[in-house]
Amino acid sequence: MNAIDLLIDDHEKVKDILTRLTDSTERAVKTRTELLQKLEMEVTIHTQLEEQILYPAYKEAGGKEELKMYHEAKEEHRTVDSLVLPDLKATDPSSVEFSGRVKVCKELLEHHIEEEESEMFPSARELFDKARLEEMGQQMSELRNRLKKEFTASQAA
Ligand SMILES: [Fe+2]
Ligand SMILES: [Fe+2]
Repeated sequence: MNAIDLLIDDHEKVKDILTRLTDSTERAVKTRTELLQKLEMEVTIHTQLEEQILYPAYKEAGGKEELKMYHEAKEEHRTVDSLVLPDLKATDPSSVEFSGRVKVCKELLEHHIEEEESEMFPSARELFDKARLEEMGQQMSELRNRLKKEFTASQAA
């Protein structure tokens, strides 16, 4: 599969989880807990696919504009992974605070996804030919399988 198509599929999945989370109420503690776990897994794995495979190739193939986009996107990943998600996980899902934090998380991720899809991905499609994108897509699905196993094992532990 083409790497960019694979990443866009992931985005759809993440956006769907976020919508279900923001639609949930303070009473739906179990649903919220499950959705948050799912969100964490999807976002963590997706970020690794981008940061280990697409982003480095993009940085190398591109010029100054691409370098700026690369750093901006990495900074957004860092905000979500090391700040927003950990805070959310530490928040009582039956609280209104949780609802507020979910909303901010959704806005951040939607903004990030929008920028990738409207700026970085179209420029990646120009920088890389079809064969290269297919090759990266293959690497991504292998990495995803490996990370998914690790993630599931760590959640069960
Ligand atoms: Fe990203
Ligand atoms: Fe992405």
